[in-house]
Amino acid sequence: MATVALVSRPASVLPRISSSCSPAILSAASVSTGQQRRLQHTLVPKGKGGRSSSSGISATVFGATGFLGRYVVNQLGRIGSQVVIPHRCDQYDLMYFRTMGDLGQIIFMEWDARNKDSIKRALEHSNVVINLVGREWETRNYRFEDVFVTIPQQIARAAKEAGVSKLIHMSHLNADIRSPSKYLRNKAVGETAVRDEFPDAIIMKPAEVFGREDRFFNYYANMRWFGNSIPLLSLGKNTEKQPVYVVDVAKAIVNAIKDPDSNGKTYALVGPNRYLLHDLVEYIYAVVRRPFVAYPVPRQLYHLGARFFAMTPFEPWTSPDKVDRFHQSDMKYPGLPGLEDLGITPNTVEQKAIQVLRRHRRFRYLETDLDDAKPAKQINY
Ligand SMILES: NC(=O)c1ccc[n+]([C@@H]2O[C@H](COP(=O)([O-])OP(=O)(O)OC[C@H]3O[C@@H](n4cnc5c(N)ncnc54)[C@H](OP(=O)(O)O)[C@@H]3O)[C@@H](O)[C@H]2O)c1
Repeated sequence: MATVALVSRPASVLPRISSSCSPAILSAASVSTGQQRRLQHTLVPKGKGGRSSSSGISATVFGATGFLGRYVVNQLGRIGSQVVIPHRCDQYDLMYFRTMGDLGQIIFMEWDARNKDSIKRALEHSNVVINLVGREWETRNYRFEDVFVTIPQQIARAAKEAGVSKLIHMSHLNADIRSPSKYLRNKAVGETAVRDEFPDAIIMKPAEVFGREDRFFNYYANMRWFGNSIPLLSLGKNTEKQPVYVVDVAKAIVNAIKDPDSNGKTYALVGPNRYLLHDLVEYIYAVVRRPFVAYPVPRQLYHLGARFFAMTPFEPWTSPDKVDRFHQSDMKYPGLPGLEDLGITPNTVEQKAIQVLRRHRRFRYLETDLDDAKPAKQINY
């Protein structure tokens, strides 16, 4: 896979960075405003790789403060990229990003997704834009239509106007206009909206992603608080899942940036093995060394219970939409390129589940190996 030098736009000068930046960066920015630099050192790939080299990539990562974001920023930082992180949280909540890049390479900016100028400002010095904005539940301020259609559309439009070379948009494997899940219906509309604004956008369609901070494996493992009995529609025997490891998804994004042929493509990112949801959750409980008792629930009843959790003003543990999304079988896209086409050998659930799930074990099993957890039965297709 050839590496492209993305040398089209100035990147190191950020005259309008927010007050959350370090004074050093602010002073560098004010000195360089108005200077005509013929050569942007950060744009010339140099060094042997690693955080102190320069990859030539200057990326704005919208939604970097989420689960996937930290892995993507880390992958970008470790090859020596400059990363702009638009955020809306307190800057103390962003401390963990600082060590992901060399001095001055990680830049924080406040943004407001409803303000077009703030979107423009966030990406005006970048040659790569990555959109990871997402939300599993609707709020009074932001509906799924806003998060999955309007915001991506605004980002794609601003990226096109700014002449960005690569736009990566994160969709979902099961995005479908006919889906019972509103989240997935809006993801499908969002894909089309982004393509219309930026035809060369790279669309990533990952299956459910698992990793330490995920809301998939941890969600099922946390159900132990309700007595180790797991409600599943049709006992989870009608749902097929093919979860993908978070680091593989982050690497796929970085490899797609480097690949000169990736523009305009849609990638389906799935793990190497496919399981019945029942068998997958059974394996999760085998790894955490707790008894597994699944019981079937009718959809209406499950929705009723989930609606109760969704009423909280804080992050809801589940919602009717999440129930529908998790019980939807992963779609198969044999015609779409995937992780292997981006040079990645995907990790299996059996290789990585212990990293995610060890913390759910009882203390006496914390150090125990995985050996006696029987691998989940796979579905051949
Ligand atoms: N996780 C999965 O299993 C999975 C699977 C398939 C596809 N995806 C997609 O991949 C993307 C990233 O997933 P994730 O799990 O990392 O999501 P996440 O943890 O929920 O993070 C979402 C990010 O979007 C930001 N955001 C949400 N609403 C916003 C708004 N109204 N204005 C500004 N920022 C907003 C959040 O910022 P704050 O921190 O300020 O809230 C956060 O940084 C999403 O589009 C998701 O739909 C995820």
